[in-house]
Amino acid sequence: MNNPNMRPADMARIETPAQAEAFIAQQVEALRAQIGSGKVLLALSGGVDSSVVAALLIRAVGQQLTCIHVNHGLMRKGESEQVIEVFQRQLGANLIYIDATDRFLNKLAGVADPETKRKIIGAEFIRVFEEESAKLTGISFLAQGTIYPDILESDGIKAHHNVGGLPKDVHFELVEPVRLLFKDEVRVVGRALGLPEDMVNRQPFPGPGLGVRCVGAITRDRLAAVRESDAILREEFAKAGLSGKVWQYFTIVPDFKSTGIKDGKRSFEWPVVLRAVNTRDAMSATVEEVPWPVLLRITDRITHEVPGVNRVLYDLTPKPTGTIEWE
Ligand code: XMP
Repeated sequence: MNNPNMRPADMARIETPAQAEAFIAQQVEALRAQIGSGKVLLALSGGVDSSVVAALLIRAVGQQLTCIHVNHGLMRKGESEQVIEVFQRQLGANLIYIDATDRFLNKLAGVADPETKRKIIGAEFIRVFEEESAKLTGISFLAQGTIYPDILESDGIKAHHNVGGLPKDVHFELVEPVRLLFKDEVRVVGRALGLPEDMVNRQPFPGPGLGVRCVGAITRDRLAAVRESDAILREEFAKAGLSGKVWQYFTIVPDFKSTGIKDGKRSFEWPVVLRAVNTRDAMSATVEEVPWPVLLRITDRITHEVPGVNRVLYDLTPKPTGTIEWE
């Protein structure tokens, strides 16, 4: 009678550390029962869901887990480094780190169409993951950070945007320990597992990463401008106490230039667009009223610290008519 993919009607919401500890204890037992002495593979992006699954599996089966972190070159500043620091150094996990930046950026060179960019990133991700997993022997389980909204809305945001997902290899049995949890519950569990606060509170980040914010054909210098400006925005939002309050905020660098003046000389450089939105379900969104002094400070820093940028704009458009991302 019990469908393992449906949340039981009497399942309490996980809100407190004690509830999270109870969930963790129960999952550790269930994971050990499912996996036995087998080996598990996990694609660890560093997002909340896969990070919590990794931490649960490390607790349950330790060295029987192998994590693969593919850096597609479209990660935010410091993100891959944090994955290595937390999972390899602090938690002692088996972690295979693949820097596939050149592969992805070479494949994407000159490609301006948003859907083609997404397809290339999705397909290349699967290829890299398959190549790496083929080098491993004796793996019988594939762990995934599926959460309850992914099951409820199988045609929802992730399914709509992410091309393909991970290979559904018939040889692997799926391990999905957080499949009955909502996002806020996953965060409570992550905190109880001791993951760093900035990892637990991470805002949603699209699978194709900064690639959809480097509008049009991606170039390395414009991608660097997206990454550096995003890091400044996050730093200033944290200082202003906005990071836990605003749902999603990031920068975009469009593929055009305008005239400006820098150090007394004419410049012809890119603008950086700031976006900060609030939403319940990402289907519609409103724009955050960022205090003017915060916007001015961010503008000052981006125009002085990010090479190739001479203007900063704030996107005032709700969804609809704009989508949250620019591509
Ligand atoms: P849009 O731009 O459609 O975005 O208003 C809605 C939410 O989805 C995120 N998003 C993605 N998530 N893969 C994902 O997993 C993607 O390709 C993708 N594109 C957009 C976006 O960041 C926002 O939170």
